Parts: sequence; C-alpha cells; structure tokens
Amino acid sequence: MDEGTRATYAQPMTSARPIEAPTARLVIERVVAGGDGLARAADGRVVFVPSVLPGEVVEVELGGMKRDFARGRVLKLIAQSAHRVAPCCPAVSRGCGGCDWQHVDAPAQLDLKVEIVREALRRTGRIAEPDVVGGGGVDPFGYRTTMRFAFDSDGRPALRRARTNEPVRLDDCLVAHPALASLLADLRVHGSDEITLRVSVASGDRTAWCQSPTGRIGGLPPDVRVGAAEHLVEHVDGVAFQVSAASFFQSGPAAARCLVDAVRNACGNALETASTVVDAYGGIGLFAATVVPASASVVVVESNASACADALVNLVGRQARVECTTVEGWKPEPADLVIADPAREGLGATAVARLAATGAQALVLVSCDPVSLARDATLLRDAGYVAGRTTVLDLFPQTHHVEAVTRFDKQHQ
Ligand SMILES: C[S@@+](CC[C@H](N)C(=O)[O-])C[C@H]1O[C@@H](n2cnc3c(N)ncnc32)[C@H](O)[C@@H]1O
Repeated sequence: MDEGTRATYAQPMTSARPIEAPTARLVIERVVAGGDGLARAADGRVVFVPSVLPGEVVEVELGGMKRDFARGRVLKLIAQSAHRVAPCCPAVSRGCGGCDWQHVDAPAQLDLKVEIVREALRRTGRIAEPDVVGGGGVDPFGYRTTMRFAFDSDGRPALRRARTNEPVRLDDCLVAHPALASLLADLRVHGSDEITLRVSVASGDRTAWCQSPTGRIGGLPPDVRVGAAEHLVEHVDGVAFQVSAASFFQSGPAAARCLVDAVRNACGNALETASTVVDAYGGIGLFAATVVPASASVVVVESNASACADALVNLVGRQARVECTTVEGWKPEPADLVIADPAREGLGATAVARLAATGAQALVLVSCDPVSLARDATLLRDAGYVAGRTTVLDLFPQTHHVEAVTRFDKQHQ
C-alpha cells in the first residue's frame, strides 16, 4: 500500500485514538491500489490487510497504528473467498514479495484490477462514472522475460520480502520465463545490489547487466552476454526490436503485444488522420514502430540514453526523430496525437503542460499505477482533456501491478 492509496482511503481524525485490542475481527470491503485489502476497525479506523480478498472475514493482529489508519496481519482466515487458491510457489511461504497475489485465482486477478482502477478514478480522479473495462492479459506463469534480482549475503539471487529490503533467496521463479528461471540456481553475484536478466523469446538469446560496475558475476552459462551495451532482438507485432541490457522492456513480448493492441485500439480513428505523433516516454520505440502508421511522422521523447540508441535502430526507415531528454525538459512541438507511457509516478503537472502544449486532439495515456492515473486524469482535465474509456490489462499476473490505457480527448471550447 503506497502513500497515495493511504491518503485516498484513510479518514483524517482529530486525535490519535488508541485501539484497545491488539487483535480484531474484520470484514474485507475491497482490495485497493497497492494490493492490500481494506477493512474498517470498530472505531472506524481504516485497516490495510495484505493477502486477503473482498468479502473475506479475518482475525488480524493490528500494528503500524497511525492516527488515521492501521495495518493488519492475518492471524486466522474465518471466512474465505471463492476466488482464494493456495499459492503454488514455495518461495511465497518463505516471504518472497515478488508475487503478492498468488492467493487469487487467475480470472479474479484482472477483475480486481479493473475495480481498483475504477475506484481510483472515482475517488482520486473525481470522475463520477468512469468507463473502465478489462482488456485481457498474459499467461499466469512463465511470462517475465526481464527480471531484476537482489542478492543474499552468499551472493545468491533473491527477491525482496514485501515492504522490506530483506532478500529472500530463489532457486527458481514461476513467473519468470523458463530460460531465465534456469539461470537462478547457479548464479552468484558479489559487489552489486542488483542484476537484470533478460531473455528473448524470439531468439533464445540472454543478457545480464549488473547495475554496479564493480559487480562480480559467476555461474552463468557461456551463452549469456554480460554488460549494459549487450543487446538482444525481440519480436513484437511483427517488428524486430533491438533491446539493450540497460533499456526498459515490458514484462515480456506477450505483454508488449497486449499493450500495443490496447494502445492501437485507444488511438482508434486518430491514427487515420494523424500526420504527426509524439511517443512520450517512448523507450526503445515500441509504439512508434508498431502503433504509429508509416505514413505519419513520429517524435520519440525518452530520457534514457540506452533506450534512445535502441529506438534509433528500431525506427530506421521510418519518419522518426528521437529526442533524448526528459518530457519535462522537452520543447513541445505541434502534434495531432500523443501517446504517453510514463514510469510509476505518472506524468505530473510539468509533463502534462508539455504534452498539452502540442495541441494534440487525442492523448493516449498508459499508466502502471492507478493512483497516478487518477491524478494525471485531473491534471489533464484542467488542461482541457476529457477522459474516455480506460482498458485495464493484466501484464503482471500473480501481482497487484496494474497496466491501464486511457484515451483523452481535447475539449472544444
Ligand atoms: C514504462 S517505460 C515505457 C517505455 C516504452 N513506451 C515501452 O513500452 O517499451 C517508461 C520509459 O520512460 C523513460 N523515462 C522515465 N522518466 C522519463 C522522463 N521524465 N522523461 C522521458 N522519459 C522518461 C524510461 O527510461 C522508460 O524508457
């Protein structure tokens, strides 16, 4: 549960009231952004509870008590949801925080995400009846072709325990693509906090990149190419993409394809008439090379040098320019259509001002955080853009992570 979610749901109280009982029996009202369940204690205080589902009745130990909210740790499940399943990964019971929704059956995960986005748009975005639909997703396991791992004190790969920095060692990972998961058992890294592993579904090529240049890597098979400049080629929607180890790529090519389809649908008729498109936070040029028609010119705005270098390669032969800068620092130019896919914090006021200054009639926003989406929706509304349909995708099954694609149209005065 992040700060935005806490601020959205917690009711300010005039004085800090002690909660008498350290335990409570609670009914989970809903699941909120960040993945926790929300319930209300007898004194009205909001309680956030991890690993629960709407309608479940739980006995919790209350902790982390603040003036306006508390956290609950489940001691006993008294009534369970029909959508509850037993987590199939042994690392979950050892505390691995990578998959916080393994207790939810696969179809219910997307439904919950749709509800979370709808609620964020209602509460934070102040949209009375948001148009939010589910748009599908990727296979529930084996989908991640890029993953970042931490290390334990023996240099063995790990993911972090939920809400801590504590590493939980992994010899396998069920959401990782098998060609990536197979690297974990022998991998050892010393002198670096994290390593990014990536595999190409198209070619089987694999890369590894230690964030710290002093990192010493052992135990990788000889086919794995190591270093920030190493790249592989991945295919999405019939296009071959160069992806360098230090560049962003979606959770896998299936996720990238899902997103391309959703962005294309959201752009809709705007693609037929657009002669200039801005692909903001464009990464390696994923949307510029797939969604944008070859007849249109496209400007990719991207701050990461590695991704910009990839985009230049991936957009050869297209009417494309890559601006290697932040969106906030970019000098806006006229455009008919904007596609924007910011990081978790969303656009924010300055980026909204830059994108609105293009004068684009339509703006398609890809959001990976429901509260950021809702905040951006209010900023865009103030800048003259009205929210249309939001399509929610499940590109990170077994986790609370959400991907949402929203079309905004410029209002005519
Ligand atoms: C969620 S990724 C999306 C990339 C691309 N659209 C894709 O789907 O592959 C966000 C991208 O924005 C870039 N980025 C982060 N902050 C930025 C900023 N302030 N201005 C421009 N690009 C930024 C990151 O380097 C990353 O490539």
